[in-house]
Amino acid sequence: MSVEVERLLIVDDEGPILFALQRTFEAAGYQVTACADPVDALQKLKERPYQVLSADYMMPGMTGAEFLAKAKELQPETIRILLTAAHDFSAAVDAINRGDIFRILSKPWNRAELLGCVRQAFDTYGLREKNRQLTAIVQSQNQELAALNKGLEALVDERTTNLLDGMVAVLDYRDTETQWHSRRVSRFTRRIAEQLGVTDTAELRTIEMGALLHDIGKIGVRDAVLLKPGPLDADEWAEMREHPHLGWALLQRIEFLREASKVVLQHQERFDGNGYPGRFKGDQIVLGARLFAVADTYDAITSDRPYRKAQSHDAAVAEMQRVAGTQLDPRAVEAFCSLPEAEWNGIRRDVEKISLLEKEWGWTPPKRVFDIVREAALKQKQPISQPPPGLAP
Ligand SMILES: [Fe+2]
Repeated sequence: MSVEVERLLIVDDEGPILFALQRTFEAAGYQVTACADPVDALQKLKERPYQVLSADYMMPGMTGAEFLAKAKELQPETIRILLTAAHDFSAAVDAINRGDIFRILSKPWNRAELLGCVRQAFDTYGLREKNRQLTAIVQSQNQELAALNKGLEALVDERTTNLLDGMVAVLDYRDTETQWHSRRVSRFTRRIAEQLGVTDTAELRTIEMGALLHDIGKIGVRDAVLLKPGPLDADEWAEMREHPHLGWALLQRIEFLREASKVVLQHQERFDGNGYPGRFKGDQIVLGARLFAVADTYDAITSDRPYRKAQSHDAAVAEMQRVAGTQLDPRAVEAFCSLPEAEWNGIRRDVEKISLLEKEWGWTPPKRVFDIVREAALKQKQPISQPPPGLAP
């Protein structure tokens, strides 16, 4: 936005000179305020903005350089010109060097040169002003954009968390122990990864999601097998051992979970190659799955099970160290053991807090939701284009 009125403040203690300057500038179309006293001129600067100001060098009370320095404090954006007799030039150099002055003009002046200089001063002011305005616009737009991006990220995060929660909860409808076990283990696994020096946020998230969804393939295992109270026979075991692969296949359909699906596929592998389904060994097993195995072992030992009571942290650590190198990655076990018990208890308490809240809210998933999901899982090859009847609330 350009400034309509071009306001010029001139200061000179010699009346005739001040008058001559005023006439010259007014004839050129500027709105001129003329002051014979620099103190008076400073007062004028306090009252309203001027784009350009021209001051004499030799004045009573203060020099032109002192005056311009004070004027700069009052209106830093104003373009300042110094008008001086030739013999004062050297004294004015200081003011020029401090950046207080746009141009220095000699007295007596050449009219064309004087008007040219003042015109340039106004144009410079206009350009700087435009620059200030554009910078302010860009800054405010950048802030808006950053806020918008933050909002979008938060939305994506929230929806992702909801989706994952939903997926884990689906499994919980069949096997009540799973949900909190999965949540604890996912947090434990992430913590071990951090301890091992993984800092990449995306990688940590992948490892955490893979651990959270490790048993999601159990959705495809029949009740007769999954919930069987007694020991499984060979065929039943074969069906149970399908769950890493089923989980992997399920997650292939969801792009942002494809990396995490590798953890799901390999979560039952053992470091020595005696696991399943791929019988992979050592580094052939993705890091997330190796870390998961440590977290899972710890959680299994330190949680109550239908057939035995929870054991102590120390007992769990002893057992993990015993199987380091066979069942578990020794580096991952070492990373786990390098953190104190309090760290793991803290994570456990965090997760349990969420479970207590849910109990308090009393939200129980309706059985029909489970039935519908299971039916869809059985007919895996038929894509569901419409929600099954009765699913909508
Ligand atoms: Fe599993």
